[in-house]
Amino acid sequence: MSTDLSEPEGRGTGAGKLILFGEHAVVYGAPAIVAGLPDGARAVARPTSSETSTLTFDATREPSSEPTSKTERDTVERAFRAICEVFDDRLDGPVEVTVTVDLPIGVGLGSSAAFSVAIARALADWTGADDHIERGVEAGESVFHGNPSGIDQLAATEGGLHFFTNSDPLQATSLDSPDLEVGICVAGPPASTREMVENVARRREHEPDLFEHLELLIGDVARAASAALREGDEARIGELMDINHGALASLGVTTSELDEACHVAREAGARGAKLTGAGGGGCICALLPDGDHSVLEAWRDRGWSAACYQL
Ligand code: PMV
Repeated sequence: MSTDLSEPEGRGTGAGKLILFGEHAVVYGAPAIVAGLPDGARAVARPTSSETSTLTFDATREPSSEPTSKTERDTVERAFRAICEVFDDRLDGPVEVTVTVDLPIGVGLGSSAAFSVAIARALADWTGADDHIERGVEAGESVFHGNPSGIDQLAATEGGLHFFTNSDPLQATSLDSPDLEVGICVAGPPASTREMVENVARRREHEPDLFEHLELLIGDVARAASAALREGDEARIGELMDINHGALASLGVTTSELDEACHVAREAGARGAKLTGAGGGGCICALLPDGDHSVLEAWRDRGWSAACYQL
């Protein structure tokens, strides 16, 4: 059944995210901790006279990001079409969607989930098909990630701080924590989450027992971090971030730049630092001592871009 699309347009937003603990191991059932970021993606959906649905990136507003390589553009286009397909039964014809992404893309800050959530919400806002949002987001995320754990989707949809387990059904508990100041540094080039997840899966096939131990360790770190976050024990949170980074190195997803950025952060006074997201490039995050931005300066002195968020 199609809907009367008398509304001139629909709008939606999705949040970016920061994985504080547990990436990769979360794919295999270990718990993880994620925070929504205030920056993310915004989408506007309108009818179009074109023969097919079209996607445009609005690069006129600052800061904004859009895919640059042909491969990136193709992936984004396929994700867009996958999301639109879910809404096919409610759309009367092709749709024109304009997206603004306020995060750097492909660096582990959840731009792809923010993109999928913003578009699915804009299409739902326009057609009234709120019950299609979840499936729309899953369709987009499957193109970007292959087999996503759902952690990015949770953060992009809900924002806030969550303890998450990729079980059936998914489990997410909201975490109350005193305000934390976290620095984020883009230390490496963009990397493909899908490829990084596949690399871990291949390494895991060779060493199933050792990888299982590493996943259990990362899960224990996330559980301990959940308690430390509730208590606001920043020294412990920082120590656990360092341990988590070491375990991610053992999974094979760090790089010399990411290690160096963690080292620079710790030397400049961070309580702890780790890569965040899929690794292979992209970002690290560091817990900053209250009101002290020396870590951000140390990163910028090395030529890396850096930002600070209150979580
Ligand atoms: O999208 P990224 O780069 O932040 O990575 C997502 C986190 C992974 O654990 C590596 C994959 C997943 O689906 O959970």
